[in-house]
Amino acid sequence: QDQVITDKLGRLLQDLRISVTDRCNFRCRYCMPREVFGKDFQFLPREHLLDFEEIERIAKAFLELGVKKIRLTGGEPLLRRNITDLIKRLASLDGLEDIGLTTNGVLLGRMAPELKEAGLRRVNVSLDALDEETFMAINDSKISSHSIIASIDKAVAAGLNVKVNMVVKKGMNDHEVLPMAEFFKERGITLRYIEFMDVGQTNGWDFKHVVTKKEIYQQIAANYELEPMDPAYVGEVAKRYRYKNTNTEVGFITSVSESFCSSCTRARIAADGHFYTCLFAGTGLNLKEIIRSGATNAELRDIIISRWNKREDRYSDQRTEETARKRKKIEMSYIGG
Ligand code: GTP
Ligand code: 5AD
Ligand code: SF4
Ligand code: SF4
Repeated sequence: QDQVITDKLGRLLQDLRISVTDRCNFRCRYCMPREVFGKDFQFLPREHLLDFEEIERIAKAFLELGVKKIRLTGGEPLLRRNITDLIKRLASLDGLEDIGLTTNGVLLGRMAPELKEAGLRRVNVSLDALDEETFMAINDSKISSHSIIASIDKAVAAGLNVKVNMVVKKGMNDHEVLPMAEFFKERGITLRYIEFMDVGQTNGWDFKHVVTKKEIYQQIAANYELEPMDPAYVGEVAKRYRYKNTNTEVGFITSVSESFCSSCTRARIAADGHFYTCLFAGTGLNLKEIIRSGATNAELRDIIISRWNKREDRYSDQRTEETARKRKKIEMSYIGG
């Protein structure tokens, strides 16, 4: 009896990404450079964050409108206090088929068993290099790649389904493409290469920094035989391949070289309750204010429906040097990717 709603380009509403904090314990150069996100940076004050009750209420409204998958993001979602309680609440909601979390892995080793216990099924762990010097230069926080790998192992041991995300940026970590492939192939863990995107205002993006899927694919295919696989679900973000004669996969997230807007079914909620219909949106709809001013569930649903019905976003189809430079966009650490 769920309602099915579509946007102006006929796209359904199927996935919800919820950012639970705008803070992070890394300062990745391409995401939260210290010059901008330093000691004086004003993160969201606590009273501006959605509380768990509010997140649950919003999630329910979206589930009633066709959403089946929820992913928790940040900043770094494991920094949100009592995050396992939120996962418990969400995991038991009607209509939810899948719940995942995207993390930098620093706190994951410690938390993996309780996350699994709370009902989490999948974690995507960001790891941009194995080489310590490269990794620390990227995260700018003195955390070693070994500790992230230890977290990944603990998450697997706890029964979580783990994938690894590597953002590839020219001159930053492109020399790690093959070592990463070898390492995760050996462990039977899916690695996904992500083309560097022009998210936010502070990451200094330029087309010349992008290492395309084609370039990465060629490096890997020169060493291993790959077979294409079908998407796991309609509108899956990654293009999937399998190493021949294994069950191990490798994927490519090609937002720049082969955009996937035509099948984009994702809604995003920032930690302060703003609803965005695209990762590259400039403005959002303040659902927190709507809830706090006493809207009923039916009113909340109607507001979401009318916003989704108006949606025309397809930024990655339209990206140019000019839009990358001039368009006002929200930060990755605020919206969670
Ligand atoms: P799965 O459910 O495991 O497939 O997760 P996912 O790949 O959708 O989520 P994840 O948080 O691991 O994101 C991986 C990369 O894909 C990140 O760089 C995201 O910013 C990017 N990404 C996810 N959704 C979109 C999208 O709708 N548009 C664009 N341009 N990039 C996206
Ligand atoms: N381009 C592509 N991916 C990015 N991420 C952060 N910033 C960018 C960017 N500019 C990745 C993170 C994480 C995921 C949520 O998004 O490394 O894996
Ligand atoms: Fe790095 Fe992710 Fe934190 Fe951004 S949110 S600084 S990409 S770990
Ligand atoms: Fe969806 Fe916007 Fe990403 Fe296109 S650029 S896939 S519309 S979030």
